[in-house]
Amino acid sequence: TPGFVESSCPSRIFWVKLDKLFLQGKFFTLEIVDPSGGTVLLEEKMAARCGYVLSEDVWGNPIFRASVLGCHVANEADELFSLTINIKVSSSPDMRRAATYTYPMYCTYSPWAPREIVCEENYMEVSVKTDVPAISDDDTATWMSALPEVKKVEYQVWQLIFLSPSGRKKIMVSDAAKLGYSFNNTLARVFLRAPYSSNESKLTVANGVSMNTVSSTSMYKQRWLLLLIDTTVSCPIDGTSFSDTAITWTVPNIIPTLVPQGSTFVTQNISVGVDGQRIMQPEQNYILEHNKTHIQITIPIGAPEGRLKSTVANGVHGVIYSISFFLDHIWTDVDWHMTKYTVIKPITTPFLPRIPTVINNTLPEKRTFDVAFGSFLPDVSLVTITIGNVPLSPREAKHHGYNVYEITFPNGTKGFNLEVPFDDPTVLKEYVNRNETKYTLRVNYTLDVGPEKKQYNHPAEVECVVADIELPEAVGYCDKENLYLAVPISALHQYWNLYVGNRPLNQHTVLSDRYLLTTNSTHLVLQVPLFAMGIVYEEVSFQQLKARFDLVLKKANTLETIKTFSVSCNFNSSEFIVCYPNGTVTVSTPMKTIPSIDMGKTKLKDSSCKPKEFNEEKAFFQFHVSTCGTSLKFEGDRLIYENEISYEREILPAWGPPRITRDPDYRLTVLCYYPTKEKLTHTAVVSNQPANGSPPFGYGTVMCLYSVGYRRTRQALNIIAKVSKDESFMEFYEPNMAIVQPALAPMFFEIELKDEEPNVELHLNTCWMTGSSDFNSTSQWNITVD
Ligand SMILES: *[C@@H]1O[C@H](CO)[C@@H](O)[C@H](O)[C@H]1NC(C)=O
Ligand SMILES: *[C@@H]1O[C@H](CO)[C@@H](O)[C@H](O)[C@H]1NC(C)=O
Ligand SMILES: *[C@@H]1O[C@H](CO)[C@@H](O)[C@H](O)[C@H]1NC(C)=O
Ligand SMILES: *[C@@H]1O[C@H](CO)[C@@H](O)[C@H](O)[C@H]1NC(C)=O
Ligand SMILES: *[C@@H]1O[C@H](CO)[C@@H](O)[C@H](O)[C@H]1NC(C)=O
Ligand SMILES: *[C@@H]1O[C@H](CO)[C@@H](O)[C@H](O)[C@H]1NC(C)=O
Ligand SMILES: *[C@@H]1O[C@H](CO)[C@@H](O)[C@H](O)[C@H]1NC(C)=O
Ligand SMILES: *[C@@H]1O[C@H](CO)[C@@H](O)[C@H](O)[C@H]1NC(C)=O
Ligand SMILES: *[C@@H]1O[C@H](CO)[C@@H](O)[C@H](O)[C@H]1NC(C)=O
Ligand SMILES: *[C@@H]1O[C@H](CO)[C@@H](O)[C@H](O)[C@H]1NC(C)=O
Repeated sequence: TPGFVESSCPSRIFWVKLDKLFLQGKFFTLEIVDPSGGTVLLEEKMAARCGYVLSEDVWGNPIFRASVLGCHVANEADELFSLTINIKVSSSPDMRRAATYTYPMYCTYSPWAPREIVCEENYMEVSVKTDVPAISDDDTATWMSALPEVKKVEYQVWQLIFLSPSGRKKIMVSDAAKLGYSFNNTLARVFLRAPYSSNESKLTVANGVSMNTVSSTSMYKQRWLLLLIDTTVSCPIDGTSFSDTAITWTVPNIIPTLVPQGSTFVTQNISVGVDGQRIMQPEQNYILEHNKTHIQITIPIGAPEGRLKSTVANGVHGVIYSISFFLDHIWTDVDWHMTKYTVIKPITTPFLPRIPTVINNTLPEKRTFDVAFGSFLPDVSLVTITIGNVPLSPREAKHHGYNVYEITFPNGTKGFNLEVPFDDPTVLKEYVNRNETKYTLRVNYTLDVGPEKKQYNHPAEVECVVADIELPEAVGYCDKENLYLAVPISALHQYWNLYVGNRPLNQHTVLSDRYLLTTNSTHLVLQVPLFAMGIVYEEVSFQQLKARFDLVLKKANTLETIKTFSVSCNFNSSEFIVCYPNGTVTVSTPMKTIPSIDMGKTKLKDSSCKPKEFNEEKAFFQFHVSTCGTSLKFEGDRLIYENEISYEREILPAWGPPRITRDPDYRLTVLCYYPTKEKLTHTAVVSNQPANGSPPFGYGTVMCLYSVGYRRTRQALNIIAKVSKDESFMEFYEPNMAIVQPALAPMFFEIELKDEEPNVELHLNTCWMTGSSDFNSTSQWNITVD
């Protein structure tokens, strides 16, 4: 026999399997060899009538099944059956050159149950013993009414009477084939084979399961004998339902059209099998249950007798499970004594999505992404893995130093593991929070899925935030006249900028503020004189001067303050002037005169302003620029407040000559400079930023609304507001011009009070952005408040 053919006789069926590997790339046809020697090409249109099934098993192997009562089967005494097929195999569609393998098969089947029904994929077959009493007592009346017609038929000729929804139909056996039926008798039996959904069939429902039923009586009449045999056949159509994990196949236990006297019905045996092999212990993998009304088989998806295969549908990964089941049900009842009922049922689940998952096994301390992707059936393979934007085959990925490997799980599924170091150039790095880096790995898996090798893509993004950024620590110290801050350079990288207040620490600030910036190989050292810009005087008193200098570490991209480095020292200076931003002025002045003067008698321009404290060597004044006779003048972009400490000679007597002066004259000019321009750096985040990541943008005009002041004072102030193109405040945008700015880009506003009158002051109270030039327009986004 040819090695690529296997056959068996489960129950009463010739079951032939051809090896798909042998037939791969070849063409084949099957021929049926008639016992008389002739051959018939097996064609689809004759299959149902002849009791043949040509299909594939779940593995794709061609399957041929034939009933032992099928066409061209040699039948010896209803016990020994033989059928010969020719398998023609050719490497071209031209079958004339095909190799022919003649394959004879023999099956023995005995004993037969009085009635046997087979529900095949494409036909229903009932065969009954001819010596059984034909019609149930209950139904005799129905059938007797058919007799007047029956009498007219010819002797020795079988006839068929169908009871269909459209009425009774009587045909000669010789006409059965024309209607798609096959009817014949053997030594001791008659059989009827019907296709599903024939004109004479009807759809019925038995215990909730849809059935296709052909009700018929076979009639044989001789002069002395009228034989009427119920050849009704009824088979379930469908009855399967699917969950994510199991198939449920339900068959009615008792089928009323086949068992007229249901009260006498007794199930004798229920057995199941797969691919024609009976399963001896079905409870190992399946659940086989039956009650009075139903037989139910639960098949877990993935049960080994079936086939689970991977596939892709609409870009979704999933599986399809198929299994070819059969059920044998033997029952007894009073009419038929015993019925053997066989259902052959290939079942294929619908597409079951199985979304693979990316599992993040990353251990931050290993500084390597460890990502598992699964789980998959063995019929899935990894073709390409795109790391960053670089598509690599698994082998190429290994060459690049990425650890890519397959893992097999105990349940037989598999996954793909990938390891990529954090420091790999394809890994995105972002500085987040205070001292953390967010590492992001972007991968895109491309898989070949299932026997059809369908392509499946699965992008994934894995992140890991690690506190691996060390914030610099500064060291502060002072000498007699300076404060110092030493910041290690190694830690100062692209993430941060140093600021003095709101001004970035750069050459410009250093020069204009009289700082000294030096670097050695490890540190940046900033020297700040005690009376330079940016110093904060924490305590200014007669006894001491406490000064502080702050250097602010800000995030380069958001200007968020990360850390403030401070140095604070006490100084023993007895000679200083401190002009506070709020207009308070403190002056400590030693007065070394000979002869020494009475410090308590020193005063400011307004002679009622006396020192706050004094001793023999020095006096300490504190006053506000708006008091004590302080004068103001403008000089370039500075305001200069001026006062004078003086000591008036004591003249004795006060009211008349001669004059004797003992004390020397003393005059000390006190000057406070204030910049007329103040730069205010202010950051804020627009809260209604679109979620999809595109930064917000906008445009508008800058208007100066001094109308509040105007309304109150009935006096137009000479105020000019401008938007500068950069922080140098040298070039400005035209007024009322649309300015387009990307998000997070700074804007530079200049508000200038042009009035020369000394008693006019500008307080920039609230500045806001809003959507229109209407003063009351909402919503408003504050730029500065107070
Ligand atoms: C079934 O009935 C239809 C309509 O009456 C008819 O056209 C068709 O030929 C019939 N089929 C068979 C197999 O007799
Ligand atoms: C009935 O069976 C006999 C014997 O097997 C066969 O010769 C005959 O052709 C069959 N008739 C039909 C209509 O199939
Ligand atoms: C049912 O039939 C099977 C197969 O023919 C047989 O192995 C089993 O013993 C039978 N069970 C009963 C309860 O008769
Ligand atoms: C028999 O089993 C079926 C299926 O499990 C169920 O739907 C039905 O209700 C049961 N019938 C009885 C009488 O228990
Ligand atoms: C097989 O095992 C893997 C890993 O434990 C698991 O993710 C998967 O869900 C399992 N698959 C099935 C069908 O049980
Ligand atoms: C993943 O790769 C596929 C095929 O190259 C591509 O169509 C898809 O856009 C990629 N997905 C991502 C998120 O890059
Ligand atoms: C991956 O795992 C790391 C370490 O457990 C964790 O920090 C990180 O948030 C995870 N990332 C994602 C995207 O789940
Ligand atoms: C990062 O900052 C947190 C507190 O914000 C601190 O507990 C941690 O020690 C810092 N880690 C490093 C490496 O500086
Ligand atoms: C650099 O200057 C800092 C601060 O003065 C000092 O601590 C450090 O030792 C100096 N480094 C070298 C290499 O001289
Ligand atoms: C001005 O500021 C100094 C130092 O912060 C403070 O001592 C003083 O009270 C303030 N004066 C006024 C009028 O607020």
